[in-house]
Amino acid sequence: MEYRRIKGTRDILPEEGLIRKRIFSIAENLFLTFGFLPISTPVFEQTELFVRGIGEASDIVQKEMYTFLDRSNRSLTLRPEGTAPVVRAYIENNLSSFRFPSKLFYIMPMYRYERPQKGRLREFWQIGVEVFGAPGPDVDSEVIFLMVEYFKKLGLKNFTTEINTIGCRKCRPLFLDKLVEFLNEHSEDLCSDCRKRIDLNPLRVFDCKNERCITLLKDAPKVSESVCEECLLHFEGVMNHLRMLNVDFEVNPFLVRGLDYYEKTTFEVKSPLLGAQSAIGGGGRYDPLVKECGGEDTPGLGFAIGVERLLMQLEEEGIVPQIEIGTDVYIVSYRGLETKAFEVANQLRKIGIKTEYDYLKRSMKAQFKQADKLGAKVSVIVAPEEHERNLVKLRNMITGEENLVSYDEVVGLIKTMVEKVDERCQ
Ligand code: HAM
Repeated sequence: MEYRRIKGTRDILPEEGLIRKRIFSIAENLFLTFGFLPISTPVFEQTELFVRGIGEASDIVQKEMYTFLDRSNRSLTLRPEGTAPVVRAYIENNLSSFRFPSKLFYIMPMYRYERPQKGRLREFWQIGVEVFGAPGPDVDSEVIFLMVEYFKKLGLKNFTTEINTIGCRKCRPLFLDKLVEFLNEHSEDLCSDCRKRIDLNPLRVFDCKNERCITLLKDAPKVSESVCEECLLHFEGVMNHLRMLNVDFEVNPFLVRGLDYYEKTTFEVKSPLLGAQSAIGGGGRYDPLVKECGGEDTPGLGFAIGVERLLMQLEEEGIVPQIEIGTDVYIVSYRGLETKAFEVANQLRKIGIKTEYDYLKRSMKAQFKQADKLGAKVSVIVAPEEHERNLVKLRNMITGEENLVSYDEVVGLIKTMVEKVDERCQ
């Protein structure tokens, strides 16, 4: 029997693993500068958390969750997103008493049973942040700024930042009445999915990809034009603060987002280079969610970036971070002297120098070939004659220069040589 990975999942191979490590560490450093602290939550949660948190009528809950019964007949779900679990963890661990307002970030895999295609997977990773306890529009703009700054730090140029307001608990019902009235008037011209959405989740019609629906909906009432005074002021505040931070943005009155917990601000960063799945990241404000999940009434907001789409974007823009996959030092040894190679290699590793030697007792020629293949900057040659005199040969692989040194000085000398080569290569 041949085993294959499950449809919509990927193996992250070493080279990509190193690139991801780099982009994660850039994110972590930036988030720490903005005062965000790391959090991780379990891969699975009670199903009810997502049903209540993301919304019964959302596409995720309706058709995309990996839900199963465990051996005690509990309904569990692999997390399709990070916000609801982080809200749960915030409440359960009383994080507000640790620091308030609370700012958290995560880098975690997510699971959605979607139809796999370019940029759309069933297991994918998100880099996300959540803020609890900050009601003002300055924080919305700060969170948007943070996402944009991260993309800029990675060198991305080809993206747009779209923002919108979708109103609050008070004003949205009035807007939905207007929208439903419009949709009912035009129901015959809508696709079958949108017709179903009229009763189930009318706001979602704005996400429809059907050309006829898109054209028709251009004349539909827009949520941003129907929001209350408070929401409007908040939105103006967000835009003013974004201007202060020199963030380029566009208002997209159709940006409603697919998760039901949002209110007021929504935003998305999109790329023209990614095809149909163009959102690299998105987020918004979700003030009712903490209370809805059983906590105190606490405003919340955040974003999540899709790691695989971000990698695609880096590739499209030709700016994938350069990573070093090789070794600093390779130790070549004659037959019978393998133990010396083993000893020196592990001494060097102990002081942080990447070192490899031959595990397979291969010929000298094969070992030198391997040293080249791994891009060694220095090779150490352990040969019988020199070994008898307590000496070993060092070869600078860039200049070809060779030196005989004693075993006592080998570690220190190699350290200096590696540092010098590194300087020259920078
Ligand atoms: P989301 O828009 O569902 O928001 O996902 C955020 C990002 O995850 C998307 O923009 C996309 O880059 C990536 N993504 C989503 N689904 C897939 C998929 N099937 N395959 C590959 N990448 C995908 C959320 O998840 C919210 N929790 C964001 C948030 C945080 N809002 C407030 N706080």
